Amino acid sequence: MKAISKAQAQSFDPHQLRNALGSFATGVTIITANDVDPDTYVGVTANSFNSVSLDPPLVLWNLAKKARSLPAYQSSEYFAVNVLASDQTELANRFATQQPGKFNDVDFELGVGGIPLLAGCAAHFQCKRSLSYEGGDHVIFVGEVLQFDDFNRPGLVFYKGKFAVSRPYPQIDQSETGGFVDDYLHYLLLMAAYRFEENFCPIIEQNGLNHYEWRVLAMLSDRAGRNLADLAQNTPTSQPEIEKVLEKMVRTNLIERKGDVDSGYYLTGDGNLKAVQLLAAAKAHEADTLSVLGTTEAQSLKESLKMLLKNIS
Ligand SMILES: Cc1cc2nc3c(=O)[nH]c(=O)nc-3n(C[C@H](O)[C@H](O)[C@H](O)COP(=O)(O)O)c2cc1C
Repeated sequence: MKAISKAQAQSFDPHQLRNALGSFATGVTIITANDVDPDTYVGVTANSFNSVSLDPPLVLWNLAKKARSLPAYQSSEYFAVNVLASDQTELANRFATQQPGKFNDVDFELGVGGIPLLAGCAAHFQCKRSLSYEGGDHVIFVGEVLQFDDFNRPGLVFYKGKFAVSRPYPQIDQSETGGFVDDYLHYLLLMAAYRFEENFCPIIEQNGLNHYEWRVLAMLSDRAGRNLADLAQNTPTSQPEIEKVLEKMVRTNLIERKGDVDSGYYLTGDGNLKAVQLLAAAKAHEADTLSVLGTTEAQSLKESLKMLLKNIS
C-alpha cells in the first residue's frame, strides 16, 4: 500500500476527506459528564465512540479541541456513553449544537458519579476516565467501563453525513424457499397483496361493498371532488368498470356527483360514515399485519414500495 507523506496529507481537500470518512457507517452516541460548575452537566453528540479492549473493558471517543465542553470532560472523573436508539434523532441534533440548556425537558437519571443517563437509549456505558491523548485537532478520551446496560433497542446509524437505520443483511434460506419463484419480486408482491387483501376482504363485504367501491370511498375521503378519469387512473381496473362502480355507489347513496360527466364526485353523509369506519378498520388491519416487522422496518418497507411505484412507469 502506498504511504501518504505529511506534505501530501496537507494537500487534501478537507471536504473530500470528510466525505470519504463518512463512508464508514457508525452508531451515534451522546457522551455525558459533569460540568465544571457543580450540579450541571455537559452532553455532546459523538460518533467517534468505539470499543478498545474487553479485558480490561475499555472504550474511547474523541472531542474537538474547539468544543465548548472540553474543559468539563477533561475535569470530570466519569463519563457516560448513551448509545442512541433509532428513534432518537431529535436528541442527536439537540446535543450536536452549542445551545444552552441542552438537558431542558430531557428525561434522564443519574448514574455512577452523578453522570446523566438518558432515557430511551439502546445502551449505556458508565465509564471512569482513565487516559486522554492529543489527537491533532481532537482529544482522545479512553474510559474504563464500570457498568453497562443493553436495552435491546435498534441503534441509530450515521452514514455519509446522514442519520440512518440498520437492517440485517437479507439471508435467503434456500431450505425455506423453493428457488427462483419464491424469491422473485413479482411473486412476493402478488402473494403479499393477495394475502393482505384476503384478510381484509370479509370486513369490506360485511359493509356491503366490493374492493373497487372501498377504494373509491378511501380515495374520495382523502380528496373530495375527484372525477371519473382521476378515479379510474388510480384504481387497478378499466375506466368502464369504474364507471359502473360509480353509478352503483350513486344509486346506493354513498357518493354524489356535483355537475356533469366531467365533474367531481363527493361522499354523501352515509358514504362518509362508512368511509370513517372502514378507514379505522383498515388502519388496525395494517398495523396488525405489519407488527411482525417492527416500526422502523414497516416504515422502510412502505418507503421502498413508494420508491418503486414512482420509478416503474
Ligand atoms: C452525528 C454526529 C456525530 C458527531 N461526532 C462528534 C465527535 O465524535 N466528536 C466531536 O468533537 N464532535 C462531534 N460532533 C459534533 C458535536 O456534537 C458538536 O460540535 C457539539 O456542538 C459540541 O458541543 P459543545 O461545543 O457544546 O461541547 C458530532 C455531530 C454529529 C451530528
